[in-house]
Amino acid sequence: MSRLKIIEALNKDISDELAAIIQYMQHHYMAEGMESVAVIDLFKKASIDEMKHAEILSERVTYLGGEPTTTLSKVKKGGNLKKMIRDNLDSENEAIKQYKEHIKLCADLGDSVTRLMLEKILSDEEKHADTWETILGIKK
Ligand SMILES: [Fe+2]
Ligand SMILES: [Fe+2]
Repeated sequence: MSRLKIIEALNKDISDELAAIIQYMQHHYMAEGMESVAVIDLFKKASIDEMKHAEILSERVTYLGGEPTTTLSKVKKGGNLKKMIRDNLDSENEAIKQYKEHIKLCADLGDSVTRLMLEKILSDEEKHADTWETILGIKK
């Protein structure tokens, strides 16, 4: 049933968002003292964005008749500030790939409301990835 497939996809997204919240907050705390006040603040801001994503996704799962998961995906932690930023960029790129797949799934199953919701989240993830690429000096 298509509704169950969408709930399953959104719950995978929720697990990843929950991990992203904790990953960014952990980096926010652990990067303190590395003389990177601006980046430390960006970690916290990104964590709050991911919390909003988790909330939007969870509300949609509930609306579709499912139960939002409390299972957490793997959190990347440790290392110096550059490693933290690289880990976050990797996570954002994984999220971008998965949201594109789930947007296609919703389009295929004819759920335009969930598709539009995921497109808005995708645009936030692209902004996050762009921030880390800019700091790392990576040109596309
Ligand atoms: Fe997110
Ligand atoms: Fe993000």
